[in-house]
Amino acid sequence: METAVIIDFGGQYTQLIARRVRSLNVFSQVVPYTASLKDIKALSPKGIILSGGPASVTDENAPKCDPELFRLGIPVLGICYGMQLMGHLLGGRVAVTEKREYGLVPVRRERSSTLLTDFEEENACWMSHTCQVVELPEGFRVGASSVNCPVAAMEDRERNLYGVQFHPEVTHTRNGLALLRRFLYDICHFGGSWRMEDYAREQVLRIREEVGEKGTVLLALSGGVDSAVAAALLSRAIGKRLTCVFVDHGLLRKGEFEQVRDTFERDFDMNLIAVDASERFLKALRGVTDPESKRRIIGAKFIEVFKEEAEKLGRLDHFAQGTIYPDVIESGGTLGSNVIKSHHNVGGLPKELGFTSLIEPLRMLFKDEVRALGTTLGLPAPVVWRQPFPGPGLAIRIIGEVTREKADLVREADAILRREIADAGLESEVSQYFTVLTNMRSVGVMGDERTYDWAVAIRCVTTDDFMTADWYRIPYDVLARVSRRIVNEVRHVNRVLLDVTTKPPASIEWE
Ligand code: XMP
Repeated sequence: METAVIIDFGGQYTQLIARRVRSLNVFSQVVPYTASLKDIKALSPKGIILSGGPASVTDENAPKCDPELFRLGIPVLGICYGMQLMGHLLGGRVAVTEKREYGLVPVRRERSSTLLTDFEEENACWMSHTCQVVELPEGFRVGASSVNCPVAAMEDRERNLYGVQFHPEVTHTRNGLALLRRFLYDICHFGGSWRMEDYAREQVLRIREEVGEKGTVLLALSGGVDSAVAAALLSRAIGKRLTCVFVDHGLLRKGEFEQVRDTFERDFDMNLIAVDASERFLKALRGVTDPESKRRIIGAKFIEVFKEEAEKLGRLDHFAQGTIYPDVIESGGTLGSNVIKSHHNVGGLPKELGFTSLIEPLRMLFKDEVRALGTTLGLPAPVVWRQPFPGPGLAIRIIGEVTREKADLVREADAILRREIADAGLESEVSQYFTVLTNMRSVGVMGDERTYDWAVAIRCVTTDDFMTADWYRIPYDVLARVSRRIVNEVRHVNRVLLDVTTKPPASIEWE
């Protein structure tokens, strides 16, 4: 397979480079800077990208690559630290400059530049550096410059070595993707034939190798898209040697338990253990009103139930998890380390249960790539496009004490909201939408009777990263239908409210 090798010098955007390369249909492999020249050559790269990094090349202990890398005849693109390293190792001079650049900076390209052909004459680029190349190595020409950075890009066309001080992988850089395309297609001559199906095939081989011919794997299925895609991939790799445990804590959305069971048991013919533990969870939550206590209780119960099921099965060899790249970052993990999502329900399980290894086949992928992989593997659209759902489930959407009656009530209201959003064709416009059972009752009138019932709130948000969010302006006619249906169809609800708060200061969930 045609491969682009990305050498990681600890930059925060390394995986973003890999993702952009994949989006251009080129297979990429990220290797740490400690990889030997022999290891790199063994991957038969058609192009090499040196990532950014926090160090300064002039420091004695700065991460370096073998200078022979530049003599292999393989095109190399150095980005930020990668460019400085190239400059330094090839005899140029890198120095700390007084004026550091950070943020969007206009960069002026030289007409003669090959790499920057698609750039505007003055092109906004994302910069973040204190050091820069101040003297070019022999054979190089300036490709672009900014006011504070005379060598914002450099190239040696003869040897096919290129460097950019800015970050083409960051979307803020105008025409950044076009730059990467030019490097990969016109300079390295990649065919651009890589597809998600290839990723699936490659991961299947890896999983088979790791698990061996007889090994068994246990996976905790949450019903969310990540664990579902991991399950589908493992199932393709090792079939029935994968066992999935899906715990119903009684706080799932309407129809969720059945949908997960049908998809994996019927369509994928998997060993699925679906445990109805709702009674145990609800009992443990009795009388509990504090949000963090609810979370802790649910987390602990989950481990308890899961452990029991795992013990019933007899210990399986490996434990699999649908950790994706943003989780790795959130948990402070680095490449190659086995960090288990700290916020994940099953954190701590592998160690307690004595599994020999942890398999995380999605840990290099971003959410949209996980969805693309899920589609490739044949998962149904409702599973692949499911909106995020918190591990503690409806418990954190019921303010105050959680009871089965309240869970049923908020579940029904939620199902109505989901139906109406779908019927109005708004599903893809709203990032997350649900109902909340407020802990408030108010007086109403139904027929001729006085009621004293619950108020349900509607929460609909748009967001890219769930760190900040805006409330979604639901059309009034849709709101009217949702409200009418909820008070008519859900018993003991006589009022519907709309949450019009952004995050921050509010969070998306109410608890
Ligand atoms: P907040 O409420 O923090 O939510 O603004 C941000 C996103 O995270 C989800 N969320 C959780 N997911 N376990 C999870 O797996 C949790 O305990 C949890 N709490 C919030 C929330 O649904 C939203 O998408």
